Amino acid sequence: MLYFVVIIVQLLSYSTCTHKYVRDVDSTIVEEIKHSPTASYLLELYAPWCSHCRRLEPIYEELAKEIQQMASTVEEYSNVRVVRVDATVYSDVANKFDVRGYPTIKFIRGGDIEHTFTYEDDRTKVAILEFIKRVNGPSLRWLSSIGKFTQARSKHDVFFILISRQQDSSQQSHSENDDDHGNTADDKLIELYKDMANRYLSQSYFYATNASTIIQTYFSKYKQPVEIFAVKSEGFYRYDPQDSHISLEQFFINEKSPTYAEVTIGNIHDMIVTRKLLIIYGYKPSNDDKNYRQEVKNQIGAYALSTSKQTRSYIQFCFTTDLDLLSNIAVWTLPEPLIFLYNSSTHYYGYYLLSPKEQITDKHIDHLVENQHEIIIHPGNTFVKRLFRPFWELYRTVVLMFIEAPFISMLVVGLPAAVISIVCYFLCCLPSESSAKEQQRKDGGESEEDEEDEASERILNVQPKFIENFKKPKDAKDIPTWPQHPELLNEQKTTQEKKRD
Ligand SMILES: *[C@@H]1O[C@H](CO)[C@@H](O)[C@H](O)[C@H]1NC(C)=O
Ligand SMILES: *[C@@H]1O[C@H](CO)[C@@H](O)[C@H](O)[C@H]1NC(C)=O
Repeated sequence: MLYFVVIIVQLLSYSTCTHKYVRDVDSTIVEEIKHSPTASYLLELYAPWCSHCRRLEPIYEELAKEIQQMASTVEEYSNVRVVRVDATVYSDVANKFDVRGYPTIKFIRGGDIEHTFTYEDDRTKVAILEFIKRVNGPSLRWLSSIGKFTQARSKHDVFFILISRQQDSSQQSHSENDDDHGNTADDKLIELYKDMANRYLSQSYFYATNASTIIQTYFSKYKQPVEIFAVKSEGFYRYDPQDSHISLEQFFINEKSPTYAEVTIGNIHDMIVTRKLLIIYGYKPSNDDKNYRQEVKNQIGAYALSTSKQTRSYIQFCFTTDLDLLSNIAVWTLPEPLIFLYNSSTHYYGYYLLSPKEQITDKHIDHLVENQHEIIIHPGNTFVKRLFRPFWELYRTVVLMFIEAPFISMLVVGLPAAVISIVCYFLCCLPSESSAKEQQRKDGGESEEDEEDEASERILNVQPKFIENFKKPKDAKDIPTWPQHPELLNEQKTTQEKKRD
């Protein structure tokens, strides 16, 4: 009973919460947007029962407040209206914007309701503000001076630039008489670049300039009429149109992350599609030995920057403070600080635990990279791992709940736990081919590849052991004392021993 009371109280408090800066709208919003060609809209589509929406609520309100306050100073915020709509009530709006989950955050520029931007990164105020700045400007930004170029460099970790020797060709759209130049390959490249800027504006900045603006200071040794570069903090990388292995789009995907990038739930997928080897330093900044953890982070960052020219085609260096993210790949609680290696073409992973105060030098990292095949030994996306993941996530949610609100959690977990244990019992004890397929389909969103059959076969042999661990009754007492996985620990030890030899 109390369980329902709690939920009802929560719902009520949610719907009666007043918004000063966010405007609640209804179905008329679609028409309003269409008829406001000078305004841009940030639209949140929410569901009252969704916990992510509730978590976003104060952030969204803060965000709206900040946009209003900065409207007069920041050009990109001057015409932005922040609104939200209950997608469960106004389902016609939800259909219009193709909502697949809650909350969905859409940005609509200048009444163009057919080409909306969907916000997919972390739902923090800073990240969303940055996103608005990017998408509420032109897709292609023209750099009129070397000073503007320097400014762009100081503002962004990564951006793309097209440098043309043609008469302002990248600024204005092409007219037929451009064909006189006979430079169709170059024109095509410019068109491709523009197209890319339109499609990926929500992910990066795209600039263009003419050679006379910039060539005395930068890029002087590049002679082609049209050149495209990715500019990063440590230098710039040229796109080679002659190299048929890499399309402009692939170049963008490979280069859009900073050389030493923070990896989050929001961007890990982007890094995985590069098929690079991800070397992720995971740590908790709040831990006792803060300075040591920071030092290691800087050390790896320095290595990434200094070796970038040679390694960036196949390695992406990252760091994260979100250890849950790594634990979710491993489907086990991982200790920290650690260096996590993930081969994103095979989805295998491994990790190297740092012993207390262990110093990391360039030699160490060289060694790690050279011996990656000895470390990367765990399959990360097999059938068993997928089968596991829902249980794992349930476990994490329950533990978090107990930490945050022990009393209410007891009430909430009591009955459902009994039901869940029964369901688990049936799920685990009767693993039939059909339920396996179903599970795989359910988790299909995780990755496009299903080619790890061989790996699944190998791991299937150990299935009974895994299941045994998970068959324990999921009552409250068991949770805090859930043991570390013995196999993983052993493997970890042997890896570390190997390292020391
Ligand atoms: C290059 O751009 C600058 C600034 O936009 C302009 O003044 C100049 O005429 C342009 N030069 C060419 C060759 O298009
Ligand atoms: C990922 O693993 C495969 C197979 O072991 C290997 O051929 C490939 O080079 C690895 N990828 C990277 C980026 O190291």
